[in-house]
Amino acid sequence: MGSDSVTREVASPDLRQLATVAEVERAALERLPAASAAYLMTGSGEERAVAANREAFERRRLLPDTLVDVSGATTVTTVLGRVVAAPILVAPTASHLLFHPEGEVATAQGAARAGTVLCVASAASRSLPDITEAAPDARRWLQVHPLRDRGLLDALVARAAECGAEALVLTVDAPVRSRRVRAERGGHVSAEMGLLRDVLGVRAEDVPPGTFADLDPSMTWSELERLAARWPLPVIPKGVMAPGDARRAADAGCPAVIVSNHGGRQLEDAHGTLDALPGVASAAEGRLEVLVDGGVRRGADVVKALGLGARAVLVGRPVVWGLAAGGAEGVAAVLELLRAELLTTLQLLGCPSPAAVQPRHVQTADACAASVHWTCARASSPLA
Ligand code: FNR
Repeated sequence: MGSDSVTREVASPDLRQLATVAEVERAALERLPAASAAYLMTGSGEERAVAANREAFERRRLLPDTLVDVSGATTVTTVLGRVVAAPILVAPTASHLLFHPEGEVATAQGAARAGTVLCVASAASRSLPDITEAAPDARRWLQVHPLRDRGLLDALVARAAECGAEALVLTVDAPVRSRRVRAERGGHVSAEMGLLRDVLGVRAEDVPPGTFADLDPSMTWSELERLAARWPLPVIPKGVMAPGDARRAADAGCPAVIVSNHGGRQLEDAHGTLDALPGVASAAEGRLEVLVDGGVRRGADVVKALGLGARAVLVGRPVVWGLAAGGAEGVAAVLELLRAELLTTLQLLGCPSPAAVQPRHVQTADACAASVHWTCARASSPLA
């Protein structure tokens, strides 16, 4: 596939000139055809959950500790017991051939360069063997939908295990598909279902249409338990927002959960994920690693998530913007931008590592003002 069929006739940007994720976003959207851009950017309905994700980050500010030795500060941490260069992982997003002629192969190379985990969507346009071969050192997880066809679900997991995937991510916020108006208005887009085609062992034209739309709305926690019992891969539910579901996941033996509202693409009036995070983190009681995605656009957003109980964040659209702007290099550039911002933010906050960020570092403006009033009241009291 030539690059013209994916991006418009707009010159590739000089990635070194792009200083923020927002600038990468603008560069990507200039290059993408309108229908692909609409598919990428859409949320469900009036896109309130997309807005809620950003609003939850913007409402919070950071309260630094000063005169802390941050000379040796690092962003390195572990996720599921293995090292990552930063607590910034790649969320599963479908159909990367819509955004770059190499699709998920380029995404995997970019993630490998950044030293992080790539969560491959089962609606990926490239096969798992292609992705694995292109970036054998990348840590890979496979995302699966609650498919009605359990035989296909098992075949996907088997392929993932063969290809060295280290975890299975079960999307639990999509028992049915939502209505995505912006994508509908943008026009139909379709991409090669390379991953599925390989698993089914069929030609492109023989992939059953709508396979990933054939979701099973009757799926319950027993299916997650079945997958965990049947396959040697840890199972991570993605889309957990309620504390009770975090407890269920821990009881089911999951090592982690992903707090997510699917980037605002499923439940229209979902909370912003940063607002849901503290409840899930508290219910996890240290039994689970808590990961979160939705609206992470700055290193400071990563810090806010860490402070409210996350082990790491995942990023969806920003990685795709990097892919559209510059292929593997663009993906690596976006992840490095976020990592560098994270490092500076940690240092300015007086935190030498991701683990040093505490809930007290992350506040709403109101909470900060309330603590100032309380301190002033004490200082002026005769007992102070
Ligand atoms: C997604 N997301 C997603 N999630 C999933 O579990 N399976 C999937 O196939 C997809 N596909 C997908 C496509 C596109 C174009 C987008 C933007 C998102 C959701 C994704 O994993 C993640 O939850 C959000 O993208 C996180 O929000 P941000 O970072 O995009 O704001």
